[in-house]
Amino acid sequence: MSIVGQGIDRVDARLKVTGTATYSAEHKLPNMAYAVIVQSTIPKGRIAAVETAAAEAMPGVLAVLTHQNAPRLAKPHGSETKQGGGEQSKPDQKQSPPTPKLTLLQEDRVYYNGQPVALVVADTFERARDAARRVRLRYAAEPAQLDFSKAKQKLRRPEPQPERPSDTGRGNVERSLQRAATRVDLLYTTPMENHNPIEPHATIAQWEGDRLTLYDTTQNISGAQRTAALSFGLPPEQVRVVCPFVGGGFGSKGTTWSHVVLAAIAAKAVQRPVKLALDRTQMYGPVGARPLTEQRLVLGANAQGKLAAIRHDTISSTATLDDFTEPCTSVSRILYASESLQTSQRLATLDVGVPTYMRAPGEASGSFALESALDELAYRLKMDPVELRLANYAEKDPEKDIPWSSKSLRECYRAGAERFGWARRNPKPGSMRNGRTLVGWGMATATYPANRKGAKAVAALLPDGTAVVRSGSHDLGTGTYTVMTQIAADALGMPLSRVRFQLGDTTMPEAPVSGGSQTVASVGPAVHQAARALRDKLIATATADTASPLHGLGAGDVDAVDGWLVSRADPARRVQMSTVVTRAGGQPIVANASAEQGDEKKRFSMHAFGAVFVEVHIDPDVGTIHVPRVVGAYGIGRMMNAKTTHSQLMGGIVWGLGMGLMEKTEMDWRFGRAVNANLADYHVPVNADCGAIDIIVVDEEDKQINELGAKGVGEIGITGVAAAIANAVYHATGKRIRDLPITPDKVM
Ligand code: MOS
Repeated sequence: MSIVGQGIDRVDARLKVTGTATYSAEHKLPNMAYAVIVQSTIPKGRIAAVETAAAEAMPGVLAVLTHQNAPRLAKPHGSETKQGGGEQSKPDQKQSPPTPKLTLLQEDRVYYNGQPVALVVADTFERARDAARRVRLRYAAEPAQLDFSKAKQKLRRPEPQPERPSDTGRGNVERSLQRAATRVDLLYTTPMENHNPIEPHATIAQWEGDRLTLYDTTQNISGAQRTAALSFGLPPEQVRVVCPFVGGGFGSKGTTWSHVVLAAIAAKAVQRPVKLALDRTQMYGPVGARPLTEQRLVLGANAQGKLAAIRHDTISSTATLDDFTEPCTSVSRILYASESLQTSQRLATLDVGVPTYMRAPGEASGSFALESALDELAYRLKMDPVELRLANYAEKDPEKDIPWSSKSLRECYRAGAERFGWARRNPKPGSMRNGRTLVGWGMATATYPANRKGAKAVAALLPDGTAVVRSGSHDLGTGTYTVMTQIAADALGMPLSRVRFQLGDTTMPEAPVSGGSQTVASVGPAVHQAARALRDKLIATATADTASPLHGLGAGDVDAVDGWLVSRADPARRVQMSTVVTRAGGQPIVANASAEQGDEKKRFSMHAFGAVFVEVHIDPDVGTIHVPRVVGAYGIGRMMNAKTTHSQLMGGIVWGLGMGLMEKTEMDWRFGRAVNANLADYHVPVNADCGAIDIIVVDEEDKQINELGAKGVGEIGITGVAAAIANAVYHATGKRIRDLPITPDKVM
């Protein structure tokens, strides 16, 4: 029986619960100094004067750096060129999303409120923080654009990316809409949201001559390496990034933010290792947020509910400093068969920090609009919402006109509806009361693309009979250590306990950014291939050894089982893998692999799909909304680990509850600063907010996607949930809330 698939406990669980897993800010280096960022207090303008004498006079202060005295960098923004840059054309540069433009004390300009404008370094954190409060900056403020409705008057198209054009279409939407029996034309809005991983961003920088080591919490060690190398004009090999553990990322650690390079600047200035840990507040601005969106959805259907037209126009907020697009239309482009379709993405520019990827960027926000609009259409048509979706089931990718690599969405609707008891639903709004409590049932479709990038791995068998497998990947708490260990153990024919997987170091073979739910599909095949190659090497070594019981057998005559190499024909002929290593001279036997995707993506469209069903209970007097139960059914290819898969999907659903009911970065738009930049005021679901979350993973085999058959599970869980809640709220109350989050005041 394969180890892959089993619900094995995390191999790093003991390290975590005993506090011995070392997170970035916990690395201890001798003679370490501490840096604290001073942030701008205006959203736009110039720094007219700096007064640092008071801070410099404080005890323990080693340096106060501003744009006036900070070392000049090779690249003042630290960022990779986005379009046609030389660096981008190298194969290893394609692996990560480009880092946004950074603010690195290189100029007197202020682009957003909260921007790093000075850095205080001292011998203790407390002294640095104290001195940072004594840095005075005077500004020449300029009028800032902080009004979304005004910014919308100057819309821009995002720079086109391959695979992601700003505008798409097929057929003639206007004509199809004219002929449609029923149509809806609706406006949905979603707020700015900030990631709140339990581990805030932190970096320790250490220079040894012109070699830099960064202990950084990141989803992309290679990206941090490249950004630092570009900033200081170093070859990437002179920068090492170390990150064995990440306490949650969710996209916020997918790109490298200013503090990473600032830590290195500070370490250079004081000639000591420097730790720069952001506090929670500093993660709202200097670290990007999910941008706010306004989405217009127009649907037209015939009397049987067959979609004739889908039109989805998105405006998302971006920043003056650099652009980020929340691609809300991505779901509408592929989810339903429709005679015609038209989508557009536009940007409205604000003087705020650069927005960024947040769990299912585009799919989470876009599915709220699309799946809410589908529900509104279902009511107009007097059709069951599941039936409406089945009537428009896309048998192939409607955008690329190629088959799906696999799609079990029908089974997800069926299994989810059955588990939920959907058939007992009375569709009439307000009809399902429980005493005074209003009860609502809603559903939505979930989907997320199955991404993959090239990855490398190395596997070694040591003389003690244990295997070490390495790849420069990341574990965001998602279970990478565990799943990669499972994959390697199966491929090697070894027990799990004798295989160690290591990650999080740029000295290891390169792996891509752990974003886009792609880690298992990218790194898994590399680990699998490296472990296979090692196994084959062991077999070849043993069969060539005249003193081995396996001598003379062909490669195909030998199995690897439980740490032994065994003759298939005669199981009595066998040798322990450790013996093969010692007899071969006692040096570790090593094999490498580099796993790239072939042309499968050209021939098949690869996505995970699911269906989510939600029950809400609403107090009619005060409008409070509770979600006693959620059922999510997903087709995700082969399940790699029943336990971590369940946790990933459940975590996504919980975040969906937050997105639907609570989450919003409350900006004071007079100043462009978040006023709830802390975990007390930024509301996320706690245990008491979550009822039963029932997850079904349907049987699905995908032979195209990768050799493991696995689709990612990191992001699909959040998709569709906010819409399912909004649809359930309508069912309970007869009120359509098209603006997230659905707070009690909107329901009343
Ligand atoms: Mo995810 S938002 O691609 O880390």
